[in-house]
Amino acid sequence: MNENNNVMNDYKAAGKLKGKVAVITGAGGGIGAAAARIFAAEGASVLITDIQESKLREVAADIKAADGNVSLMVHDIADETQWRIVVKTAVNLFGRVDILVNNAGITGNLLAPFEERSVSEFNRVLSINLTGQFIGMKSVIPYMSSGSAIINVSSIAGITGNAGGNAYTASKGGSRMLSKGAAIDLAAKGIRVNSLHPGYVETPMTHNMEGADAFRKMAIGSTPLGRGASPEELAKGILFLASDDSSFMTGAELIMDGGFTAF
Ligand SMILES: NC(=O)c1ccc[n+]([C@@H]2O[C@H](COP(=O)([O-])OP(=O)(O)OC[C@H]3O[C@@H](n4cnc5c(N)ncnc54)[C@H](O)[C@@H]3O)[C@@H](O)[C@H]2O)c1
Repeated sequence: MNENNNVMNDYKAAGKLKGKVAVITGAGGGIGAAAARIFAAEGASVLITDIQESKLREVAADIKAADGNVSLMVHDIADETQWRIVVKTAVNLFGRVDILVNNAGITGNLLAPFEERSVSEFNRVLSINLTGQFIGMKSVIPYMSSGSAIINVSSIAGITGNAGGNAYTASKGGSRMLSKGAAIDLAAKGIRVNSLHPGYVETPMTHNMEGADAFRKMAIGSTPLGRGASPEELAKGILFLASDDSSFMTGAELIMDGGFTAF
């Protein structure tokens, strides 16, 4: 990774989320943790959630050390009851929710031959990457008012096909279309919904996956800019979709992929 892409080293906050309340899932690492740091720096009160409590604690400690307003909750996004508790907690702590970042996700097994994939594994990936985003939106909408924003983190795998990643690709394509449908439904309430489509990002997900080195080589080799993104570069895209800078965008796709889908 090019260290110069780590914007938190010299990040200049502009108060773009001053007074806003955000819930960010999958904030224990990678893109979600970077978004949490940038949101807090921009003045938002953030409730960060993840299934990994120790990682959440590290991110929350960093944010508090920088005088940010943060709380954390252990949360499985596939569980509707847990979502209700998360949203109620955000409202109890901060009074309302203005921004939901549906970021948590998993790759599932990308390498098994198609005919050997199990229905249970397919459904597990869908239950987190797609149903989890649906439940999150459904749970938070009653507490949102006009001017609120929802960002669903999809992938370039939701734009183009992805060899080997069938459940992942299906879930990310679903996330993209779920976002468009929700955008139409929620426009009358003044709630914007957009999807973010990262290319290859240097995160625990891509570094720890099976076949990580070969996948990284393939992904970067197909990326015109010739490198992976830092999580912070994607977090800046999430910030754009969350802030009033994108006030006329809803039902849209923000692709941040170093040119991967330009072919
Ligand atoms: N890294 C990439 O190259 C890349 C590319 C395209 C899209 N994405 C998407 O970006 C999002 C963030 O990915 P990342 O690369 O930062 O991954 P990551 O693995 O580094 O972070 C994802 C976080 O989600 C959490 N999580 C997993 N299952 C969960 C569940 N059921 N409930 C709550 N939290 C759960 C994990 O504990 C982890 O901390 C994902 O939706 C991913 O699909 C990533």
